Amino acid sequence: MAEEIISATNLISLLIQAQEEALELIKSGSKSSEELRLLILGAKSDIARLTKQIRLVSKEERQKVGPVVTQVKRSIEEALGQLPTRNVSKEWIDVTMSGIRPPQGHLHIVSQAIIEITRIFERIGFTRVRHPEVDWDWYAFESLNMPANHPARDEWETFFIESSLSFRPLSRNPSSRKTRIPGRAQDDNQHIVLTPHTSNGQVREMEKKNLPIRMINIAKCYRRQSDVSHVPMFHQFEGLYIDRSVSIGHLKGVLDYFVKQFFGPQRKSRIRPFHFQFTEPSFEVDITCGVCLGKGCKLCKSGWLELGGAGMVHPEVLKNGGIDPEKYSGFAFGWGIERTYMMKAGTQLDDIRLLYSNDIRFLEQF
Ligand code: DAH
Repeated sequence: MAEEIISATNLISLLIQAQEEALELIKSGSKSSEELRLLILGAKSDIARLTKQIRLVSKEERQKVGPVVTQVKRSIEEALGQLPTRNVSKEWIDVTMSGIRPPQGHLHIVSQAIIEITRIFERIGFTRVRHPEVDWDWYAFESLNMPANHPARDEWETFFIESSLSFRPLSRNPSSRKTRIPGRAQDDNQHIVLTPHTSNGQVREMEKKNLPIRMINIAKCYRRQSDVSHVPMFHQFEGLYIDRSVSIGHLKGVLDYFVKQFFGPQRKSRIRPFHFQFTEPSFEVDITCGVCLGKGCKLCKSGWLELGGAGMVHPEVLKNGGIDPEKYSGFAFGWGIERTYMMKAGTQLDDIRLLYSNDIRFLEQF
């Protein structure tokens, strides 16, 4: 059946009418630009349908319609292009809805322990101080009664630094140190170490000449050890109290106070005779096991767990720090932070290196 011929004028006026309706719809802002494009220019739209009807216009008149179709489509595209990509004003937003929470981190367990230990000692008048973690052999060993080649040094698996390096740790009192180092007149012959313990802070603190001393020195320590119970970099906290007439009774009082504050009121401490070069007498400090509270169990065997070393500061060490041992006395103690914390948390870590492996699944638990 032959298709009906339509006049160009008729088709043009239908196209213009469709264009007006389309522009009206775009202006109303009721739909997104994607929806509008589909509705106005899509395959099922009026404009598409009218465009197809060009072939029903007589050949002579067709060229009048073509430019109109192009113009109609262009004006619609332009209007669509001016729309904002998302019409937020018409969207429904629930401002009370909770957002997506970013994952919240927390301080590393060792940082938490450092803060807690500092606060406990601050409450009884100790001040946290800092001393070099790369220091002269003098402060780490010699001034603590351990001259070069002394066998007691074997306890500390020390990292020594080539003394040809231009780096030199600062000393508060270099001239006094020079004269006091037996057989070592020149600083350049002195070894530099990565401090294997925080006891290097003892003589350094004494050199400040600010008595009485109530210091808590917390720092990183380094030893050439790495196994399930050792990491080459760990932390210690060192207490030092120097005043007139300081006795073992004061030391025991401070130890008891710390143990009850940090581990809980039901835990007890005891001191056991031991030997360190820099304290006389020297002790090892134990605390009651957190599981059996001292009775003895599978975990602790004897009921006691070893915390670390302590003692009354050796008169020679006081002298090395420029303090008269006839007038002053003091006590010191030094323990590992990681170990102390593990004893509190009751965490049975089968490998202490986990603390520094940066495994978030492990760290999240504390
Ligand atoms: N510095 C010792 C160590 O690392 C621990 C220590 C023992 C510190 C006795 C002290 C002390 O202050 O009095 O093994």
